[in-house]
Amino acid sequence: MPLRKIIIDTDPGQDDAVAILLALASPDEIEVLGITAVAGNVPLALTQKNARMVCELAGRPDMRVFAGCDAPLRRKLITAEHVHGKTGLDGPTLPDPTMPLCDGHAVDFLVDTLRTEPAGSVTLCALGPLTNIATALQKAPDIAPRIAQIVLMGGAYFEVGNITPTAEFNIYVDPEAAEQVFACGAPLTVMPLDVTHKALVTAERNAAIRALGTPAGLAVAQMTDFFERFDREKYGSDGAPLHDPCVTAWLIRPDLFAGRHINVEIETASDLTLGMTVADWWRVSGRAPNATFMGDLDADGFFALLTERLGRL
Ligand code: BDR
Ligand code: CA
Repeated sequence: MPLRKIIIDTDPGQDDAVAILLALASPDEIEVLGITAVAGNVPLALTQKNARMVCELAGRPDMRVFAGCDAPLRRKLITAEHVHGKTGLDGPTLPDPTMPLCDGHAVDFLVDTLRTEPAGSVTLCALGPLTNIATALQKAPDIAPRIAQIVLMGGAYFEVGNITPTAEFNIYVDPEAAEQVFACGAPLTVMPLDVTHKALVTAERNAAIRALGTPAGLAVAQMTDFFERFDREKYGSDGAPLHDPCVTAWLIRPDLFAGRHINVEIETASDLTLGMTVADWWRVSGRAPNATFMGDLDADGFFALLTERLGRL
């Protein structure tokens, strides 16, 4: 697997944290150029702080972390403390970060990096609402053809929705941003709920992570202990879904995933279905494909990878 340069755009969030740890534990496959925080699961003041806490947990206080947009393009921010807790990272007790937040806006970092690095060499990994990336595309449309790929967690087809009956959280929070990203022309790989609801941390899988006995392993086990109560109560599922780590796992082991190259459009007009990812899974619309939309996951392979990599931190 060739080394891939990435920027992680994120709203940590316990599952974002695990996605970041997986990337930072995989330097042979992934070079993280920086982390851009966006408002989502919790407000920006917390997501940028949480991102730095996670970098320190990974032993990477040198990582560049930038704060980005504090609200969606045109809508009021909706947060998800009911899932992630008051801090967004409830579960473990992690120390406040000592590494500084970088000067400058996350959107400028995205634009500057995409303009400076060779065209087609930087992949954007989006783990939250797409506000930062859409704002960068608006500000600097010339970056779109320079993006190697956008790999994002968002949307659903068979699973339909989690924040409303028809919408997944990341897309629902900023549907106009999602619409722009899905139309930008860069190659898109999408991890919808259809896949992430298969990445369930069962008691046995969490015990294996806890048994690593390292600060990162223990913190991840405590995060999923906290995070799972929501999905257990709501879906009766066997543990917490690790949504966002599907993005970084795909960079390392794409063979663990299966999907279809199809057309995906975002609903931005209807109050009833706002933020729905209208995924043409059955290829009936005649609209041109714009995304590889994943549908299946080898969950045992995914957890074997995650546990092994967390053990390296
Ligand atoms: C997505 O929303 C957030 O709550 C998670 O971090 C994930 O990115 C799942 O719908
Ligand atoms: Ca997230």
